[in-house]
Amino acid sequence: MRDTFLSHVRVFEKGTITVMESTTTCRICSSRVREFVDFGEQPLSDAFRDPAATDEEYFFRLAVGVCEECTMVQLMEEVPRERMFHEDYPYLSSGSSVMRAHFSGLARRFLDTELTGDDPFIVELGCNDGIMLGTVAEAGVRHLGVEPSGGVADRAAAKGVRVRKDFFEAGTAASVLAEDGRADVIYAANTLCHIPYIGSVLEGVDALLAENGVFVFEDPYWAEIVRRNSFDQIYDEHFYFFTAHSVQAMASRYGLELVDVELLPVHGGEARYTLARAGSRPVGASVTRTLRAEQESRLTDEATLTGFATRVRAIRDDLLELLQGLAKEGRKVVGYGATAKSATVLNYCGIGPDLIEYIADTTPAKQGRLTPGSHIPVVPHERFAADRPDHVLLLAWNHAEEIMANERGVRESGGAWIQYVPRVEVG
Ligand code: SAM
Ligand code: TMP
Repeated sequence: MRDTFLSHVRVFEKGTITVMESTTTCRICSSRVREFVDFGEQPLSDAFRDPAATDEEYFFRLAVGVCEECTMVQLMEEVPRERMFHEDYPYLSSGSSVMRAHFSGLARRFLDTELTGDDPFIVELGCNDGIMLGTVAEAGVRHLGVEPSGGVADRAAAKGVRVRKDFFEAGTAASVLAEDGRADVIYAANTLCHIPYIGSVLEGVDALLAENGVFVFEDPYWAEIVRRNSFDQIYDEHFYFFTAHSVQAMASRYGLELVDVELLPVHGGEARYTLARAGSRPVGASVTRTLRAEQESRLTDEATLTGFATRVRAIRDDLLELLQGLAKEGRKVVGYGATAKSATVLNYCGIGPDLIEYIADTTPAKQGRLTPGSHIPVVPHERFAADRPDHVLLLAWNHAEEIMANERGVRESGGAWIQYVPRVEVG
């Protein structure tokens, strides 16, 4: 079933060849967006399926393009937000100890720097289960999480976090402003890139932010996706892939300025951007440094994007060949981490239960269900611990260090991990 399709296909003659060129309009600046990679029809990445369900699965075309004007990398087709973020949204931020430490550290940093004034106030968009705001709540500082997914919002509330169950956009900002006044910090982790209607969010930030406040957000960094070939960062929920360059261009349209960029090791390489009202804060050296590095690596040039698409196809072919070979040899192959990212890999490569027996995952809401589109059973970690698989496809590769340390038994019992970014490797 398809209920949105923003892009259109232009067909024109180039010499004797008919070229199909798909374009759409930039959600930031309305210029032309040129497509450079297409993953075909994909399901909703977090729609883990009840094995007894008989309803039709929702599919959309997952393809990525770049704006020829402001260079924002973005999806060609948008999925309606209510299909992705709802009462049963299964992703729980607190499932990783590394991420718990990451967010409590950041909360403490905010408490020591931006939140030291008289009755400070912080708003977080997409607070999920309260992984960051929990620390702020414990410190007794005024805060609000704006979180549309009811189930995860309830978990945050249970930690003492004040939550409003809503999508953040201009209207929400106006009502938060009326109720709570201006915010010293507005923060979003792995959330701003999920919001196609980002213009409305930035209008809301402009209305809600204190004169000397900061809007801080962190998301997967396009430079790292290109460098690591981590194409599975591309799925329905990740609508934008930011660079300092595209963020700077976007900010200036809303009277904001990029004043700091911090590169982060988490989730396979992210960047944290700090925006302030134009002229209100000095622009840090990190901004110039990052912009220069991006320019040198020609992140959104045609040759870079074509090269990325070519490497992605090679990974697909190599992974499929490896898994088909192992199946022929009768090896026991399972997966680890039923991530949202894994929807792209599994569906793009055509990997199903014939190649991967099951995927182990610690998230209760995913267990007992089937992966979207590829229909591989998701099982509790206990099943994995009791088994002795020959090979384990690491789908949560962004938590590789943590997982491999916890699961030393895989190698100790003669098994091997399969990784696929930046290339297919077994070991
Ligand atoms: N911040 C957490 C983290 O980094 O782990 C959660 C990230 S999760 C991938 C994205 C979250 O954004 C979801 O909990 C989703 O419900 C929320 N979200 C989606 N659209 C939103 C919007 N317009 N305003 C606020 N939250 C939104
Ligand atoms: P993420 O890559 O979007 O953070 O998702 C990670 C998924 O992997 C999530 O479904 C939880 C799961 N997971 C485990 O099953 N075991 C682990 O040790 C970790 C860190 C994550």
